[in-house]
Amino acid sequence: MLDEQAKKTMLRKIPHGLYVCGVKDGDEVNGFTASWVMQASFQPPLVVNCVKNDSGSHAMIKSSQVFALSVLEEGQKSMAQTFFKPQRRVGNKFEEVEFYLGETGCPIITDSLGYVECRVVGAVEHGDHTVFVGEVIAAGVHREGNPLLLESTGWQYGG
Ligand SMILES: Cc1cc2nc3c(=O)[nH]c(=O)nc-3n(C[C@H](O)[C@H](O)[C@H](O)COP(=O)(O)O)c2cc1C
Repeated sequence: MLDEQAKKTMLRKIPHGLYVCGVKDGDEVNGFTASWVMQASFQPPLVVNCVKNDSGSHAMIKSSQVFALSVLEEGQKSMAQTFFKPQRRVGNKFEEVEFYLGETGCPIITDSLGYVECRVVGAVEHGDHTVFVGEVIAAGVHREGNPLLLESTGWQYGG
């Protein structure tokens, strides 16, 4: 039998970074704060990005099959805060955030450490998040710096 408390405690010990996942659908763009992200292959370069099924961004990734991950720097907690609010509630999250469109057409945060852009090559739709497997087709470094870690924010997303 699963020990619910042990499961929660141990899953919360998995370290995570914080990213803004930029998405698009046609001319529309959006972005959300993502933490369940990791590299999944060297060759081809793959990442997994686990996206909440009922989020606006999920529908947009399903439709466009692309996403971009902007890597936030330590100290950019307020940026992460801007992007964890749902678009359907707050409207355009990019209104006061400088961004540009990458090769995939997905928005990239200008004031971030850098980014990778991905084309979706697989998806596991089993739980309340879809595990999108993305092949990295473009990448860029904006500046040197240390990444923003979930653990440093005092927030929890997991368990
Ligand atoms: C610390 C933190 C980490 C998060 N990590 C993820 C994640 O990895 N995947 C995800 O789908 N949502 C994650 N979220 C939730 C989304 O940011 C949130 O559902 C957002 O409102 C979705 O926006 P949208 O509906 O405009 O797409 C996280 C939220 C917080 C506060």
